[in-house]
Amino acid sequence: MPTAQAPATIIERVSSRIVVVGAGKVGSTFAYALLLSGLATEIVLIDADPARAEGEAMDIAQAVPFSRPTRVRAGSWADCAEAAVTVIAAGSGQRPGQSRLDLARANGAIVDDVVGRIVEAGPNGIILVATNPVDVLTHVALSRSGLPPSRVFGSGTTLDTGRFRALLGSHFGVDPRSVHAFIIGEHGDSEVPVWSSANIAGESLATVARSLGRPDDDAVLGRIFEQTRDAAYAIIERKGATFYAVAAALVRIVEAILRDQRTVLSVSSVVDGRHGIRDVCLSLPSIVGRGGVEEVITLSLTDDEEAALRRSADVVRDAIAQVTA
Ligand SMILES: NC(=O)c1ccc[n+]([C@@H]2O[C@H](COP(=O)([O-])OP(=O)(O)OC[C@H]3O[C@@H](n4cnc5c(N)ncnc54)[C@H](O)[C@@H]3O)[C@@H](O)[C@H]2O)c1
Repeated sequence: MPTAQAPATIIERVSSRIVVVGAGKVGSTFAYALLLSGLATEIVLIDADPARAEGEAMDIAQAVPFSRPTRVRAGSWADCAEAAVTVIAAGSGQRPGQSRLDLARANGAIVDDVVGRIVEAGPNGIILVATNPVDVLTHVALSRSGLPPSRVFGSGTTLDTGRFRALLGSHFGVDPRSVHAFIIGEHGDSEVPVWSSANIAGESLATVARSLGRPDDDAVLGRIFEQTRDAAYAIIERKGATFYAVAAALVRIVEAILRDQRTVLSVSSVVDGRHGIRDVCLSLPSIVGRGGVEEVITLSLTDDEEAALRRSADVVRDAIAQVTA
């Protein structure tokens, strides 16, 4: 029978507080999805507009009786110290016709300011950047934080990889979770589909297409990639913003961290020289666990894929130079 003196269990000692900075469409949808997931013991919202953070926290907290016992509240920068993960979703989104890179300067200043405040609090956990352009701003966050690269990374192409697998799954008539295919590079217009290793049941898409009687010509597969790459434009044109799928992607990343799953996800982190790329943040398949980005997998790419990845790195490098100029 437990007593008042019983030692804390390992579960109680390990923080599963998640702080969300930026309680706009992405931040609050993520907080709500996180509540429904039951992964966090505490969800704390911070926003430049404190009333917004309070209002969203009140609304989400009132879903607790219908979901999972979780403390949901508006908070302050001091809460970042003991957060397992601080997710940054502060800053504006794309307007119709705008690319993610168009947001770089304004959102760069916001992320620089936000990370400065998180660092003042003395963070013991991970900083996960979602604000766009996510690769550029992951670089800004990493430089500003002085933390190890394993603990500062961005959602990167996690969302795009999900969209790619969903579209391929629908084309082949299989569960997207049975499709293994990655989008790497920039989370943006220069992103790269890794066709050479895309597979279902360990078989190439060409083999699966023959087996299932589905077309796999360049035009069909090319359209699937274009729909993946341009998904945000298509959604923003219709409803003004994207937030559900990115919220689910962020929950998936947070799950890998809190449960120490060592899941392979295409998050964005600083590249250390592999594929001839250095000092740029972009997405490669990475092992994500309690320590953050614990390892990155070096892919065997075709020459065309290598070249496309290096072009994507150049796009991000130029944008970083513009933001930090
Ligand atoms: N990484 C991804 O895959 C992905 C997907 C969709 C959107 N996004 C990005 O997420 C970001 C947020 O989008 P949104 O639709 O939620 O925007 P939004 O305008 O709805 O919300 C942004 C929030 O940030 C707050 N904010 C601004 N400056 C702040 C600061 N200094 N400190 C704290 N809070 C601050 C604003 O008050 C606002 O509540 C955008 O940059 C968008 O492009 C990323």
